[in-house]
Formats: sequence, structure tokens, C-alpha cells
Amino acid sequence: MAVQWPLPPEHPIVTKPPLRLGVMASGSGSNFEALVQACRSGQLSAEVSLLIVNKPEAGALRRAEVLDVPAQVLDHRNYPSREALDRALVTSFRAAQVDLVVMAGWMRIVTQELIEAYPERLINIHPSLLPSFRGAKAIRQALEAGVTLTGCTAHLVELEVDTGPILVQAALPVLDGDSEASLSERIHQQEHRILPLAVSLAAQRLGLCAQG
Ligand code: GRF
Repeated sequence: MAVQWPLPPEHPIVTKPPLRLGVMASGSGSNFEALVQACRSGQLSAEVSLLIVNKPEAGALRRAEVLDVPAQVLDHRNYPSREALDRALVTSFRAAQVDLVVMAGWMRIVTQELIEAYPERLINIHPSLLPSFRGAKAIRQALEAGVTLTGCTAHLVELEVDTGPILVQAALPVLDGDSEASLSERIHQQEHRILPLAVSLAAQRLGLCAQG
């Protein structure tokens, strides 16, 4: 079919605005930064609209300052229950009008309050090939089990910790003499690669726009 330019007025070009992402982090925030960079490089048609950390000392907060991304601290110690913390998260993300929420190293168990507010729109990144080694000590458990292959998983979040439909996985070998630190470093490199892809896939599933 021949392309006509300019397009006739009866065929307006419809462009969707970039996807708005919310990110939750408890730690150093390298995955948060990888997402910001993926957006800024154009790999992902999205922007990180709000970072929320659950402790003021989280390294992610420093990164947000440097990257000039809006950030909030919702200190979990100030909330009487997990549900109350999650309700506050939802309030903040709704105010920021985010389309998708990414748990990028969020070390709190989330509840229905958050999951039901973002159905199929809540993504977690975990440092193992799920369903193996769920929980907070996944890398140590993989080393102790003596597996020769491990990796990371980006998945949609369901109520049971580290479960839910898998979006993207990356596998890598466990090397002789690997420590928790050396393996963690290589897993992180893969996480930074797959997380933007997972966001893109989740958005595509929902008919939202995002390339990756
Ligand atoms: C990552 O390994 C992620 O899989 C896990 O927490 C870690 C967060 O790392 N859930 P960072 O703070 O993004 O560097």
C-alpha cells in the first residue's frame, strides 16, 4: 500500500502519551535507576513518575535526587499494618497517575490493597529462576542448593510472595567459587536488562503503549 503524506484528515495520527511508572524500592535502587535510564534512552516509551521508598536511608532515594525523579518516603514503621502502608502507596501512586507499578527490591510483603488497585499492573523483580528459591534469601539458597544455573525473574504480583505470571526470565551459570556478592552482581546485571522488557510486555498485554 502506498504511503500518503501528509495523511488525509480522516486518518489522524493517534499517539498515546508515555506510560507513567511508579517504582517501589527498599534498597540501593539499581533496578530503579535501570528503569529510569531505559525510559530516558528511549528503549521504553515511559517515564518514572514517582519512586516510593519505605526507609529514609534507602540508596534508591539518593539516586532519585541525582536523577531528578520525584520521590516519597512512606516509612513502614509509621503504619499500623501492611494494609495501611499499601493504602498509602495506592493513594500516592493514584495522585501521580501512574499506569504500572514496579516493585524493584521492595522488601515488604504486599497485600490485596495494592494488588487489587493495580490488577495485572504490578510487577516484581526477583533474583532467582522462579518458582525456585522464593523469599528474601534467594541467592544464598541457590548457592547452598548447589545449582549450576540460576537467574532472575520479572513477574506479575499475586498474593503469595514471589508468585504470579512470569513475564521475563534470564538465566546465568553459577561459577566455581562464586560468593553471594559475586553472583548477586551478575544477577543484577541481568535484572537491569529484563526489567524494562517486562514493563514493556506488561504494558502490551494491557494494550498500553511501550516499546522495549
Ligand atoms: C534485586 O536483586 C531484586 O531482585 C530483589 O532486590 C534486589 C534489589 O536491588 N527483589 P536494587 O536495590 O535494585 O539494586
